[in-house]
Amino acid sequence: MNPKIWLSSPHMGGTELNYIHEAFDTNWVAPLGPNVDNFEKSIVSFLQADVHAAALSSGTAALHLALILAGVEAGDEVICQSMTFSASANPIAYLGATPVFVDSEADTWNMSPQWLEQAIQDRIAKGKKPKAIIPVHLYGMPAKMDEIEAIANKYGIIIIEDAAEALGSHINGRMCGTYGMMSALSFNGNKIITTSGGGALVAHSKELAQKATFLATQARDAAPHYEHSHIGYNYRMSNICAGIGCGQMEVLAKRIEQRRAVYTRYYNKLKNIAGISFVDEPAGCFSNRWLTTILIDTEKPNSITRETLRLAFNEDNIESRPLWKPMHMQPVFASAPFYGDGTAERLFRDGLCLPSGSNLTDTDFDRIFAVIDKVFK
Ligand SMILES: Cc1ncc(COP(=O)(O)O)c(C=O)c1O
Repeated sequence: MNPKIWLSSPHMGGTELNYIHEAFDTNWVAPLGPNVDNFEKSIVSFLQADVHAAALSSGTAALHLALILAGVEAGDEVICQSMTFSASANPIAYLGATPVFVDSEADTWNMSPQWLEQAIQDRIAKGKKPKAIIPVHLYGMPAKMDEIEAIANKYGIIIIEDAAEALGSHINGRMCGTYGMMSALSFNGNKIITTSGGGALVAHSKELAQKATFLATQARDAAPHYEHSHIGYNYRMSNICAGIGCGQMEVLAKRIEQRRAVYTRYYNKLKNIAGISFVDEPAGCFSNRWLTTILIDTEKPNSITRETLRLAFNEDNIESRPLWKPMHMQPVFASAPFYGDGTAERLFRDGLCLPSGSNLTDTDFDRIFAVIDKVFK
């Protein structure tokens, strides 16, 4: 059996172990320490904005804390992009709030501003104004943030930006991860850079970032004994994981170039095959191309579907994956309200994520392209 080609696997830069050795040498083997501080600083400097970061154990933890800091409580409603990974929506449920799912638009596959506004108006008409909006930059492609922000401002609803997949993406130079009141980043093993598992909450307000750190370290009030006036969480990033992150930040710019080169390679290979399409960058948008994704038109004559290609890859031990199944189609969210026209459903039906790691070799591409040639011969 050929070795496995993964969808998106960790790619170390080489200096990560130096930071970890230093942590061991100085005995900073704890969920705090110099690597955590430096990792937070380098995130902020990368984002090139007046923001503050709290390094956490995951992107999911960042979204959970962001919702808490936004004042979301049991019984509230939070609008969330339907076409996303479940971690965008789960923290809404952790709080006993209800997710209200909004469909995608066809240009970026992200939250449709039109359906967002319809959803807000309908929820208000039904007696409840949503507490927050969670747009997502799926696969690194920036959502239509200017339009989403304008709608959010019009109705006085805050934005919590899920930038888990979009570190390095930007819109007219403004980085994903700096939109909204707070943003979530993920450094999970499959992301463009990783801390093995980890995330960060980014906020424009220093006070909010500090509150996130406070809640993430068990909400310990200032006292010699353990004193608590809030429910706390154990969500802080460890100094060891942050050491990996410090090393990874050194190669982030290179990883973005590499992911984009992966996209170009696929694009050149597949652009002339009838029925295959890619998602283009809208004017002013720059995607980190975290994952390269394609649509295979099921209505064209040759009867090849995204499943035909996925199964052919699978035969050769190559991992690919259908686009994320929309949340409004998930059994666990079956009772949640949804506003849309079936765009996300069509994307799920026709879409496939291709192996996109920055560490794919020429030999890997030979195997991947051989499967493509076989399927589309
Ligand atoms: C869109 C999106 N949101 C949130 C998350 C959650 O991040 P984490 O895995 O770090 O908890 C992920 C990734 O897993 C994601 O892809």
